[in-house]
Parts: sequence; C-alpha cells; structure tokens
Amino acid sequence: MPEAVRRTFVVATVPVALVALLGAAAPPSAGSSGVGDPYFPLAGNGGYHVGHYGLTLRYDPGTGHLVGKAVISARATQRLSRFDLDFNGLTVTGLTVDHAKADFSRDGQELVVTPRHVLRKGQRFDVTVTYKGTPGPVTDPDGSLDGWIPTDDGAFVAGEPQGAMTWFPANNHPTDKSSYDFTITVPKGHTAVANGVLLGERTAHGKTTFRWRQSEPMAAYLATATVGKFQVEQFTTRDGIKVYNAVDPREAADAAPVLKKLPSVLEWESKLFGPYPYRAAGSIVDRAPNVGYALETQTRPVYDSAPSLSTLVHESAHQWFGDSVSLTSWKDIWLNEGFATYAEWLYDEQHGGDSAQQAFDALYARPASDGLWEFPPGDPGSGANIFGTPVYARGAMTLHVLRKAVGDRAFFRILRAWAAEHRNGNGTTAQFVRLAERVSGKNLDDLFQIWLYTPGKPNKP
Ligand code: ARG
Ligand code: ZN
Repeated sequence: MPEAVRRTFVVATVPVALVALLGAAAPPSAGSSGVGDPYFPLAGNGGYHVGHYGLTLRYDPGTGHLVGKAVISARATQRLSRFDLDFNGLTVTGLTVDHAKADFSRDGQELVVTPRHVLRKGQRFDVTVTYKGTPGPVTDPDGSLDGWIPTDDGAFVAGEPQGAMTWFPANNHPTDKSSYDFTITVPKGHTAVANGVLLGERTAHGKTTFRWRQSEPMAAYLATATVGKFQVEQFTTRDGIKVYNAVDPREAADAAPVLKKLPSVLEWESKLFGPYPYRAAGSIVDRAPNVGYALETQTRPVYDSAPSLSTLVHESAHQWFGDSVSLTSWKDIWLNEGFATYAEWLYDEQHGGDSAQQAFDALYARPASDGLWEFPPGDPGSGANIFGTPVYARGAMTLHVLRKAVGDRAFFRILRAWAAEHRNGNGTTAQFVRLAERVSGKNLDDLFQIWLYTPGKPNKP
C-alpha cells in the first residue's frame, strides 16, 4: 500500500471514541434548554457559562416602554451548534454572536440562538441582543408576580425565581453566576437603582443615566433595575462598605428608623456569619402594593414598602445565605429562607427580644394540622411551595435543632464555614449536612432526615 493511502486508511479507522476524546472533532450539539432543575425545567441553559452581562436600558415610566441592549460574555462548555437564552415577552430587534449576525427563534421563554459558526468547547464569545417592548411580570406557580413590575412612578424589579427573563436575556438559573454592568437611562427626576456600586450619574437633554457595577458574581434573579422617584442617601460605613439607599418619599417616614440600623445590622451579621461578601450595600424602599414581598437583590434589597427591622435583618442575612452562597437547585430553597429566618430569631435573641428557643417553642406548639407541617422544608414538592411557611419556619426550626444538638460553638462555626467555603459560589443541602457533621464530629443524618425530609410534625427533639 502506498504511504499516502495507508495514512488515510489509518486515520479513517481511528476509533470514534478516541476522536471524541480528542475533542476537536466531536460533533457539535445544541445546548440544553434548561440546566435540569426539577422545579423549573426550562430555567437556565446548557452548553455555556456567562462571565459578564453588560446591560444598557432606557425606560420611560410614562409609557412603560423599555429599550434594551444586552452584551453577554460567555464561554462554551461543549462544542456548540446552538444555544438558548431565557427571555420572555420583549421583542428582539437584533442578535449577533461575536459581531456576526446570528439566527434566532423564540419558543416560549427560550430564545434559541444559532451562531454562524460552531463554537469550540472552551471558546469565549459575546452575544449582543437588542430588544424593546413593554415589560411586565411573570406569574409564578404560587400566583405571585415577579420580574419587571410597573409602579405608579416607575417599576419594582425583582426576579425570584423566574423574573429576570422579563427584562434581559439570561442564563436564568442560580448555578450560573456572573458580574454585571448596568447603564440605565430614565427621565430626569427619576432614579434607576441597580446592584453594586454607583459608577456615575449624568443628566442631559431631560434624561439621567445611572451606571452601576456589580463586580462580585451574582445570580440573574438577584439583579434589579428598580425605577422610581426616590430620595437618595449615600455614605460609606466604617468597614468601607458603600451604602446607597433609595426611598420612595411616601415611605420615608416609616423607613428612616429602620434603614438607620442597616450598618449595625451588617456589622452584627458579619460577626456571626463572617465578613460581608460585597463592597456595596443599601436598600430600595419602593411603594409597590401589588407585590407583597421584599427581595434580597444583591447588595441592595428591594422592599415593596417601608420594611420592619426583622425584614431588614432577613434580607441582609440573605446577602450571605442565598446571594453569596447560592442554591444549586430550587428544591434546596430552605438554605436561603430557613437561614434568613433564623437570622431574625438570633437578632431578637441578642437584642432583648424573644430567644430562639421561645420562637421555636411557639411554632412547635402548633397542632399537626397546621400549615407549618404541610410539607417538609427540604422537599417542598414543587415550585408552587418554595416560599411556603414550612420553608421559612420549619427551615429555621431545623437550624435551631441543629444548634441544640451540636452546641453554640460548633453551630456558629458551621454557619461561618458554610459562608466561607461557598463564598461567591453555590451549595447543596447534602454539602451542608456533610459540613455540619465534619465541624461537629457528630452523625447528624437522622436529625436532618427528620426535620428536612420527613412529612408531618416531628416528635419533640
Ligand atoms: N426571597 C424573598 C424573601 O426574602 C421572597 C421572594 C418571594 N418571591 C415570590 N415570587 N413570591 O423572603
Ligand atoms: Zn427570604
């Protein structure tokens, strides 16, 4: 056989598996339409991770019209023929991948993008999406609204669990955390508040542009771009955290005494949970009567009205538990809500209120028929239950039972180790259980099995 022919022959018979192993020649495939979250199967997308979002928005509260541009810097995690973004409602006016026009189509919340060329595994690429329309919220499985929620003077913007996709195209699942830049233009007299540090503010031709930077990684649901007529206050804490408070004047009198406590709450929580994870902090106190909840938007929680001190403590605790240490699956939501609720109990206990034991006892006294025992917090069953009472209250009770079992020293070491080891990352319930066992040196399987996973009211611990 002549040399050239033999070489061709050898190449042609190299086993397919070896070719796949070598990577380059693996057949390209489509990124999946979800990351496999059992409660929200279409949330997030497979095949890539987002490193950074650059969002440029222009919002007119008078007409409710939004014009947007998203520059999404991502990296392919497989050889990609096409991939999805989550994007709901607004009209896409243009889409490029690395500045080359790409094909796209819409399928419910999936924006399906087919780049001109196959993307190599590991390749970095920029997706630019321009869009416009009149954004509105999504209705969650529990009937609540989230996403872009218009108010009488702007919009309350909060995305847990699904609503980020109502105002920007995203890889909308907490397992993909990214840095963000926001450039938001609103009519002069309005303020646009996003996450992180305010880089600048400029007024020209009757419009004001606000530039915000969230440099630490953030899950899409924690992004905000809340717009309203706000009173603004800015200062730096003695720990060097830049605080920016924006308050609807109609809520200002009720909000002031609570917001005044933010620096001391963050200081107290830093002693308990370890260093505050971000360089910025603050609050957005809006008047949004149809919302009915507050959200721990990263660095700067958003409140639908003047918050109570407990709510401020709760949303602040989420900066560690939920924002810095993020969920891997929405089923594990007790890792957010149980922890933030327990922070409220600890705050009361250490500030002259009821002890955590008293809070526990009052809940435990509820009869077996009470909604508190309707489902176990580690297994809410569906997206409709993730903000149910058992997640918050029995989630916090689980932590109290843990504290009693391991003692205060080990318990607070566990909380700090959890925040430190998963800082700016993600965690699972299984990882928390393992960490608690490691730090305490105790077998805690039964405790967690009963309190997190067993239906019905547990026996008295
Ligand atoms: N995480 C919020 C809290 O701190 C609750 C968000 C509720 N969201 C919703 N769509 N119902 O409690
Ligand atoms: Zn919460």
